[in-house]
Amino acid sequence: MSEDNVNMPHRLTCTAPVNIAVIKYWGKRNEDLILPVNSSLSVTLHQDQLKTTTTVATSRSFQEDRIWLNGKEEHISHPRLQSCLREIRRLARKRCSEGESAVDGIGLSHKVHICSVNNFPTAAGLASSAAGFACLVYTLARVFGVEGELSAIARQGSGSACRSMHGGFVQWIMGCKKDGEDSIAQQVEPESHWPELRVLVLVVSAERKPVSSASGMKTSVETSHLLKHRMDSVVPDRMEEMIEAVHGKDFATFAALTMKDSNQFHAICLDTYPPIFYLNSVSHQVIRLVHQYNQHHGEIRLAYTFDAGPNAVIYTLQKHVAEFIQVVRHFFPPEINGGQFLKGLPVDHAVLSEELKQAIGLESMAKGISYIISTKAGPGPCVLEDPSQHLLGPDGFPKNESDSDSG
Ligand code: DP6
Repeated sequence: MSEDNVNMPHRLTCTAPVNIAVIKYWGKRNEDLILPVNSSLSVTLHQDQLKTTTTVATSRSFQEDRIWLNGKEEHISHPRLQSCLREIRRLARKRCSEGESAVDGIGLSHKVHICSVNNFPTAAGLASSAAGFACLVYTLARVFGVEGELSAIARQGSGSACRSMHGGFVQWIMGCKKDGEDSIAQQVEPESHWPELRVLVLVVSAERKPVSSASGMKTSVETSHLLKHRMDSVVPDRMEEMIEAVHGKDFATFAALTMKDSNQFHAICLDTYPPIFYLNSVSHQVIRLVHQYNQHHGEIRLAYTFDAGPNAVIYTLQKHVAEFIQVVRHFFPPEINGGQFLKGLPVDHAVLSEELKQAIGLESMAKGISYIISTKAGPGPCVLEDPSQHLLGPDGFPKNESDSDSG
């Protein structure tokens, strides 16, 4: 195999998932180490629908570390990238000095070329940094033969990235140590635990988010009293209740806590001075629709949650998906001749009763939702064994679309 040649780059390709929090992380107690003011909990989404793929190549012939993101070379000097690279190399050196050799043929001094792509548009406003940093750290760790607690390294790329290091239901324990060693992500339940649970991403607008989460949460920590109340008096109990609801597959409790927590996060955004607005009129309409729908059915069948942008993420159970998709089509009529409206897991057809339409009773907002991604909980990062999947060619540089490479 060509990779045995010491002068040829060694390449490895991995994938990592997106996660959507049901108890939100909002606020840092240490900006450099990315230590949060509260614990959080998320569901890792299935990589069949949403994932980042990253190839890392190392070679003694590389002059410097370089990175290409979604087809464009970016500055490797970005402090968060540097933190991840530095930490992986530090752990690799430590392992080496403890007699555990680094992976065969890979010198610790070798420079890396990194190439990363998402299988979803960045402009869709989905949290791409979580999957991106999780994938970077996972791939680098494999390349340099580093094992052990990697979530604390991914956390230093982007806080929410630490939760993408595991599949299923994941908590990020805030920790209390100054160096952040105990601020790590842990799996609460694997993805197989709750097979009926479904996740529907309602992509509301293709605009980029107005205020980045990093700068938004900094202003919230500095100015919001509600944030203080949330971290001291709300999240600790809520985390326990949420973990219990996940263990017991108690959808009604899971859903109510998810909606309340999303609402509190956006209330903190309004309590931030100057205020931050992530939700738009379509988001507000989705919130009303979900409550009307649940009320009509006399039970909680749907939960919404929103991050730092207007997209709605809906949690529901498989048996309710078909009807809900029809409700969305009815109240947010898609563009005629637009692209595919429903992507991801297939959904059966359902017919809406007049009674349900009237009970919801909202004005329809044409084209308010661009498309829906239907998915479920999925596994954590993994290695791709097929060499044709490498994003970097045998020379260690990004492949052109037309390049074919058997490895
Ligand atoms: C609203 O992880 O993007 O999605 O740590 O500054 O990179 P940094 O922030 P980031 O914040 C995510 C915030 C959120 C809630 C969540 O995912 O818990």
